[in-house]
Amino acid sequence: MKIGVIGAMDIEIASLVSLLGSHAEKTYAGMVFRKGMIGGTEVIIAKCGVGKVNAAVCAEIMCGFFCVDVLVNTGVAGSLDNSLDIGDIVVSRDAVQHDVDAVNFGYAYGEIPSSGMRYFVADEDIARKCMRALEDMGVAHWLGRIASGDQFVRTRERKAWIRETFAAHCCEMEGASIAQVAVLNKIPFVLVRAISDKADESVSESYDVFEEKAARHCAELIGRIVPMISWRE
Ligand code: ADE
Repeated sequence: MKIGVIGAMDIEIASLVSLLGSHAEKTYAGMVFRKGMIGGTEVIIAKCGVGKVNAAVCAEIMCGFFCVDVLVNTGVAGSLDNSLDIGDIVVSRDAVQHDVDAVNFGYAYGEIPSSGMRYFVADEDIARKCMRALEDMGVAHWLGRIASGDQFVRTRERKAWIRETFAAHCCEMEGASIAQVAVLNKIPFVLVRAISDKADESVSESYDVFEEKAARHCAELIGRIVPMISWRE
């Protein structure tokens, strides 16, 4: 069992890399892939950079070159639902790309033309294990829909539109494209995102303060669930 873990920024993978101990490094497409072990399981960790294209390239390298069995994406997100607090974690039930718009041709928002793809469903068993680990960590957590797009959401209007169009819980900039790559390669995936801001005009006050804490929560969770993923119940 090989698990690929992708984060967009250094802050999102730094604590995870420290769990690897001694490891090998390879660079593809300008991205560093670190291969080592966490709790007896082989893990490849990569920083993909921000946005859906970077994330998709990284995810495909994980599948095509490293032949991972599972893709995990971790990082921070803006909340779309006011009951989610900064520091809470959202585990994906599914994911959607909120910036895909071929409505003009009769498709729904988020639907990728001629593919039948709109909502990418995460692995139920892995998502359940994440929820259990979060329960043990005492961190508030939610199972829900994650909306991704090449936009840092920072206005009340855009936030409301994404929430109302997709009934999504949080927004970020990579997860659903990693989910799409996982589905195309027929491997399971899960996204775990810690809330760093409210995706509205208050972003500039909250983001820097909470980003670090949110990223740390996620890294702790990944460290816990990696050994659990290979157990089948
Ligand atoms: N990641 C963290 N906060 C975000 C936001 N408000 N929009 C998009 N990605 C984010």
